[in-house]
Amino acid sequence: MSDAQKRAAAERALDFVEDGMRLGLGTGSTAEYFVRLLGEKVSKGLKVVGIPTSERTAALAEELGIPLTNLDETPELDLTVDGADELDAQLRLIKGGGGALLREKIVATASKNMIVIADQSKMVETLGKFPLPVEVVPFGSRVTSMKIAEVAREYGCTGEIEPRDDDYDVPFLTDSENFIYDCNFGSIPDPDGLNRALNLIPGVVDNGLFIGIATMAIIGTEAGTKDMLPE
Ligand code: A5P
Repeated sequence: MSDAQKRAAAERALDFVEDGMRLGLGTGSTAEYFVRLLGEKVSKGLKVVGIPTSERTAALAEELGIPLTNLDETPELDLTVDGADELDAQLRLIKGGGGALLREKIVATASKNMIVIADQSKMVETLGKFPLPVEVVPFGSRVTSMKIAEVAREYGCTGEIEPRDDDYDVPFLTDSENFIYDCNFGSIPDPDGLNRALNLIPGVVDNGLFIGIATMAIIGTEAGTKDMLPE
């Protein structure tokens, strides 16, 4: 994990931002670099409007003076720039380490393009080393987690499925007041199938697999940034 690589990727993403754009603003430490750099441009006169993917990003953007709107007022976005916990060569992602996966997916899919910015440690051959976050409604969440385990087994995924909580064992609540289960699968042989199957379970709101959503990735490496299109 390199802060310099994250920042470099965020800086490169700014090359794709044009005056007048409606921008989805991601969540996490890499996306934060982007929002801060965007804030600098806005203070120098760039005209954009942002749709934040979390309360955290909304607070930061407001502090930086980036004009904000929401998806009801602005349902079609030009570009979303966001980080990822893992990505493969097809630009399939695992997201949600920060718990914002639902809003992140809604905002990204409302956008014509999604650019993922990441340092090179996020690139993997097979997704799944990073625990896959699954957002579930609190009602009946234990049953839902048992169904998640059943479905995952059918897709060749086993491993501990743990409710996310804080240091005091208080359940983590997403911005939409749901729980998150982190699924320690180790590897996900069929991300497309698992993504579809998980989202059919009653009680699952969404999961952190982003399939066919990212249109480009910018990876910070030791030798500079690398632009990637899906293979
Ligand atoms: C937030 O819910 C996530 O999807 C983040 O985009 C992801 O965790 C990447 O975060 P970092 O840039 O902090 O690694």
